[in-house]
Amino acid sequence: MIKITETELKSISQLIHEKSGIVIDDGKAYLLESRLAPLLTELNLNSFSDLYSKLRVSNSLTNQVIDEISNHETSFFRDHRPFVLLKNRLLPDLENKFSRSGQGNFSIRIWSAACSTGQEVYSIAIVVREFFGRRAEQYRVMITGTDIADSAIVKSSRGEYSGLEIGRGLSSKMVDMYFINQGKMFRVKDELRALAFFQKLNLLKPFDSLGKFDIIFCRNVAIYFSLQNRRRLFDRIADQLNPGGILILGGTELLFGITDRFRRCEEHDTFYYQLKTGSYE
Ligand SMILES: C[S@@+](CC[C@H](N)C(=O)[O-])C[C@H]1O[C@@H](n2cnc3c(N)ncnc32)[C@H](O)[C@@H]1O
Repeated sequence: MIKITETELKSISQLIHEKSGIVIDDGKAYLLESRLAPLLTELNLNSFSDLYSKLRVSNSLTNQVIDEISNHETSFFRDHRPFVLLKNRLLPDLENKFSRSGQGNFSIRIWSAACSTGQEVYSIAIVVREFFGRRAEQYRVMITGTDIADSAIVKSSRGEYSGLEIGRGLSSKMVDMYFINQGKMFRVKDELRALAFFQKLNLLKPFDSLGKFDIIFCRNVAIYFSLQNRRRLFDRIADQLNPGGILILGGTELLFGITDRFRRCEEHDTFYYQLKTGSYE
């Protein structure tokens, strides 16, 4: 395997940080060497300096490198509790808010920012189907999934998962209800797929064109960002929420010292954040 020098590690890490926000510390030389080895072979390159020269002039190659070194780890119903919260508190609150408003045309918008290969989005879609049941038709629910990685968006949009992926988080009842078995792969049924919309998006770039959301899941991505980028990100996420909107983070993530625009709440054995201006009540 080709070794990376300290200088090469520094320049490639800086470029990745500039483009994606992902911080690669000095101890990650092996990560870059191992994850990028196939790319060096494919491009017939003899050193990481050669790769760096190419990265400086090719956005698509840089995207490919970001995709390779990113952690795409995810699973259906990852951490479980946020989905219990969604079903037992957040969706009922939204439904109550709409019924009190007396309007006929309800729409619910949920964003999975950094959705990886889509399992988070389809888990949300299953909860939406299970909560609303026959009432689902009264609501226009749209779940937007975004990620910086092309490969993640392609897989999410396809909605096809291996037996191993399906086995991580889904009960056999859910598999029967919401997936079609196509030999080795399982495809998401149209009733779930219809709720989801996927788009490639870099969280460092402007995202106000996505519009406003009622609930945002931004889990297990900001942990890879610098403090400064985390501050900017959560401030801009706050701008994308409707009054009283909800932000859900990963199990180990906190907003302490990052932004004071949210109120920290605890319920169903999990923490979540509510935008301070306005509330569902
Ligand atoms: C560990 S996965 C988290 C997936 C899912 N949210 C979950 O918790 O299961 C992190 C994802 O963040 C994406 N990512 C990293 N930097 C990003 C950026 N600047 N903008 C958008 N997505 C990014 C990666 O491509 C990866 O798919």
